[in-house]
Amino acid sequence: AELADRVPLIWLHMAECTGCSESLIRTDSPNLDSLIFDHISLEYHETLMAASGWQAEQNLEHALDTYKGRYLLAVEGAVPTANNGAFLTVGCKGHTGLHIVKEAAANAAAIISVGTCAAFGGVQAAAPNPTGAKGVHEVVDKTVINLGGCPPSEKNIVGTLMYFIMFGKLPALDMFNRPKWAYGARVHDNCERRGRFDAGEFVEEFGDKGAKEGYCLYKVGCKGPYTYNNCPTERFNHHTSWPVLAGHGCMGCSEPNFWDDMADFEKP
Ligand code: SF4
Ligand code: SF4
Ligand code: F3S
Repeated sequence: AELADRVPLIWLHMAECTGCSESLIRTDSPNLDSLIFDHISLEYHETLMAASGWQAEQNLEHALDTYKGRYLLAVEGAVPTANNGAFLTVGCKGHTGLHIVKEAAANAAAIISVGTCAAFGGVQAAAPNPTGAKGVHEVVDKTVINLGGCPPSEKNIVGTLMYFIMFGKLPALDMFNRPKWAYGARVHDNCERRGRFDAGEFVEEFGDKGAKEGYCLYKVGCKGPYTYNNCPTERFNHHTSWPVLAGHGCMGCSEPNFWDDMADFEKP
């Protein structure tokens, strides 16, 4: 598609691990080539772009200016706010992540927080949160779509981008601003081990006979009953697997404050 037909996307990295970008590049429908050559124009993404150094900064400035009011803004990672944001500075000019996010959010057509760090602070915001890490929605005064998950699946990321590209508006959102099409049901509702739960067949400790039989993981800490996400139906890595299928309970990674509120992960 011609550049003019594609929606400009600016993707910022704050305090994060790049796992969400790893998830993005595993998309298969559309695949990444089709996504960035047919549907979006990826103007800035620190780990995928060819430019580096001052040229990278120039790309960002150019995109913010040229596509004012038209670009999609995706943010990966929490925003450190303590000491006026000094715990994260990006690029040659020494701007803080806080400054960059606010500047980019001001003229974005829509803002998407990709992953639990950007949406709710994630591990950076876990107690005692020394850097004052916050979700993007706490530092900008516009609606932010929150894609919970550490990381969210590639379907939830690309599906949300494509929804905006196809319909020009935000999808219906839940009470935490997560798209309902992806986060409308509990993990527990669609888990393949749900029959085991209903039958009272539980793994008592990892490696026991029940674990080998695929019993329910609730007693070894599964948080599926308290977690909203489509992992059991959509899975990860081209529909290959998801935590419970791999033998470990859900850790509640798409919920706000899961590091503090869902711990200890090994206990119900
Ligand atoms: Fe990494 Fe998880 Fe944060 Fe994504 S949400 S950047 S995978 S720590
Ligand atoms: Fe529910 Fe977890 Fe048991 Fe699945 S493994 S049925 S999500 S408690
Ligand atoms: Fe996260 Fe639970 Fe899905 S830990 S990946 S929400 S199964």
